[in-house]
Order: sequence, then C-alpha cells, then structure tokens
Amino acid sequence: MSGIILLGTQWGDEGKGRITDLLAGQMDMVVRFQGGDNAGHTVVADGVQFKLHHIPSGILYPDIICVIANGVVVNPEVLIGELDNLTGKGINTENLRISGNAHLVMPYHIILDKAGEQGLGKSKIGTTHKGIGPAYADKAYRSGIRVQDLLDLKIFRVKLDEALKLKNEIIKKVYNLEPLNLEEIFEKYKSYVERIGKYVVDTSLLINKYLEDGKFVFFEGAQGTLLDIDHGTYPFVTSSSTIAGGACIGAGIGPKQINEIIGVMKAYTTRVGSGPLPSEIEDRTGDYMREKGYEYGTTTGRPRRCGWLDTLVVKYSIMINSIDSIALTKLDVLSGIDEIKICVAYDYEGKIYKDLPPHQTIMHKCKPVYKVFKGWKENIDKIKTYEQLPENTRKYIEEIEKLIEIPISLVSVGPERNQIIIRDLNLERRFLKRDKKPLLVL
Ligand code: GDP
Ligand code: IMO
Ligand code: MG
Repeated sequence: MSGIILLGTQWGDEGKGRITDLLAGQMDMVVRFQGGDNAGHTVVADGVQFKLHHIPSGILYPDIICVIANGVVVNPEVLIGELDNLTGKGINTENLRISGNAHLVMPYHIILDKAGEQGLGKSKIGTTHKGIGPAYADKAYRSGIRVQDLLDLKIFRVKLDEALKLKNEIIKKVYNLEPLNLEEIFEKYKSYVERIGKYVVDTSLLINKYLEDGKFVFFEGAQGTLLDIDHGTYPFVTSSSTIAGGACIGAGIGPKQINEIIGVMKAYTTRVGSGPLPSEIEDRTGDYMREKGYEYGTTTGRPRRCGWLDTLVVKYSIMINSIDSIALTKLDVLSGIDEIKICVAYDYEGKIYKDLPPHQTIMHKCKPVYKVFKGWKENIDKIKTYEQLPENTRKYIEEIEKLIEIPISLVSVGPERNQIIIRDLNLERRFLKRDKKPLLVL
C-alpha cells in the first residue's frame, strides 16, 4: 500500500501545489480527484512559475504519471490552454491521463454560475465563475456530459441537444440572456477531441494497478476542508468532496489503499469569496499579510481575505480527514509582525467554544479568543534547518503543534522548491524510493 493523500485544512490556497511539487519527486503517480479549474495551484521551480488548474502538480517531473480522475470536472478549453502553457515552458505533458468518467464543464454551466451569483446579490457565494456548481449539479441530476462522450460524437450531440433544450429555457426566461447555439458548441467541443482524446483511459484501473504493484500514488486535493460540500461552511463552499474520503470516490479506490494523509496548513488563514471567517483581520496587519504573502487568487486575481491561524478550523480538518501530519506553509510571511495571534476558541454570548460550534450562526457572529505571541523580525526565507529559526518562530510552531496535537513535518518558508525545512526526517525515509533522488538536496 502506498497511497498518500494531501489536502487543504482551511479554505483553500494553503500551498497544496507547492507541497505536492516538493513530494512528487518521490512518487510514481499524482492524481487530482475533485474540483476543476476553480483550483489554482502555483508551483515555482528554478524561478519559473507554473499555475495549474486541472493538471496535477506532479507534471513538472517527466517520469511521473499525472491523472485527472473521475471526480474532477473538466473544462477542455482551459485544460488545452494549460497543456499549451506547459509545453511552451518546456514541460512534457505526455504522461497525462484523463478519466472518461470525469464530467465536462459546458458553456452553459459558466453562464448559469455567473447569472446565479448575480441573482443572489449580497448573498452571493463568491464563486470563481468557472461553472463548477452547475457542472456538479448536472452530474448529480444525471444530466451531465462526460469526457467519454467526446469519444462518441453521436452520443455527445444527442446529450448536448437534450441539455440545451432545458438550459436555453433557463438562460432566456429566467436570466433574460441570449440562448446558446448547439452547432457552435458542438463544433468547438469536437475540436477538443483531437487534443485531449489521446489521454483518456480507465484511470481507476490504472491507479489501482499502480497501488497493487506497490508504486507510490499521491492524491492531490484541491480547495480545502472548509470548502467541502458536506463538511464545509455550507453554502459558502465548493460543490465537490474536498476531504480525504473524497479521494476514494473521486479516484475509484478503496479506503484501505491509503496509508498516509498530509494536511497543508498556512501559517495564517485566508479565504476568497463569502462566508464566515472568525479570525479575519480587517486592519493594517491583514493588508500586510495580503501584500507580503501575495494573497490574490491564482484563478480569479481577487484579493484574499486574511486572518490569524484558527486552530478550531485545523483541528476539525484533522478529525474529518484523519490527518497524520501537517505541512506548514508561508511562515516567512509572518516575519516583521510584532504580535502574532492564534485563535484558540470562539466566544459567543459568553459561551466559549473550543471546537467548531454546532450552528453556523455562531461562526458568523462569535468573537475569536486569541493566544498572543511575540513575533520575530528576521527574514527566514533562506533558513534550511529547524534549529536555525528564530526562537520566537520555533515557539509559534511548537505552540501550534500542542494545540492541534499532531506533528508539523514540513515547514515552507518560500514558494521555491528548496525553501523548505524538513522536520520529520522519517517522512523522507517513508517516501524515498531507491531509484529517486532525495527529497531535497540542500
Ligand atoms: P494552493 O491552491 O493550495 O496550491 O495554493 P496557491 O498556489 O493558490 O497559493 C499559494 C501561494 O503561495 C502561491 O503563490 C505559492 O507560490 C505561494 N507559496 C507557497 N508556499 C509558500 C511559502 O512558504 N512562502 C511564500 N512566501 N509563498 C508561498
Ligand atoms: P485551490 O485548489 C480558494 C471558493 C470560491 C468560492 C467557493 C465556491 O486553489 O485551493 P466555486 O467556483 O468552487 O463554486 O466557488 O469556493 N474556491 C476556492 N477558494 N482556493 C480554491 O482552490 C478555490 N476553489 C473554489 O472562492 O468561495
Ligand atoms: Mg489556489
């Protein structure tokens, strides 16, 4: 068994792409199991920045198979753009595999996503406008169109025709917008077949074969636990299962195939879009974090809301996902802040909550209870070992560990591959394969 899941413990953008890229060198396969191009995973390798939306963050390694599994919703136009972008930067994309069971994001999904959000006015979710919600809704409603339908254009056309009949009624009558043309969409999607058809395989079979052969398969989550459709801050969530359980469904493997789960946790909290964020900072410190951490959406460019680290959120994620250890990211962003806070409880009408409260109203209205730490002034982005970190930085890390009760195995101090402190050397031993380079050559 060598299935490893990596996922976000907060509201997304924790640095999953960056950590996946770091660990992918030890893997044989990297799998995306949910979400779509709402995800934006940034990887920086040797000064070159890559922004990935569908394609797993293992793609920079030429010998790794990268899988877009059944649980993902695929926008072929965006995917082709990603492929072109990668090849333009000298990356070989021939090792990509796409599940025929993955659903397609169609033009009407994007229109309905945007129009639906506009209709909600102040109550809007703040989606990425990528058509994710409507695409997953069609999947659940059993009116979705799948990647495999592209390989039989007769079926594709029938399904598109059926779908458009209803969608165009909604587009015209509910939203007062121009209806879509069947022929135009058909021709456009037909042209995608040549580009992506060759990657389509039975990915569940492929992943299971790799696992059976004892190969290392890495499941890269998108979004974060608090954006999970069931376990997140509904309705301010995405429309897929972002949690560890989602990897089994979205990739077609049994739960027993997983033997390690890593949670990615930013040293503070960010969120794009609406919804509760109890530890939000609305003063200059929040702006400082946003500018220093460049907290702007990878997919939409929107400024991210910033807040202090919330251990109630992370503890909840650890529970929901059975997380074994944490990869802490963006610690360097906190350098230069005089007082650093960690949210350890919520106070709602005098009652103290140490776990996420049972009713979301409390999360919206509570006052965060903070533990306050002395910050550090030093830049830490070149530090390679834990011992070299300033004393206050180590205190911050060790206090988090005490609060969340699981180890922090990796500490990221910058976006580049080598800006990492490996605390758990066993991690390397567990993952290191004889034919692979060590995790990091310092
Ligand atoms: P993801 O969606 O979880 O993969 O995260 P994003 O890529 O959307 O956002 C994380 C951003 O922070 C990216 O721009 C990364 O290059 C950057 N990043 C990742 N780790 C670090 C770190 O430790 N320090 C700094 N300063 N930036 C980081
Ligand atoms: P990565 O993988 C942060 C948020 C949107 C919105 C909500 C629903 O880069 O961490 P959707 O378009 O999915 O229907 O939007 O979810 N959201 C993300 N926030 N990172 C992401 O992905 C996100 N993907 C969706 O901002 O609040
Ligand atoms: Mg992101």
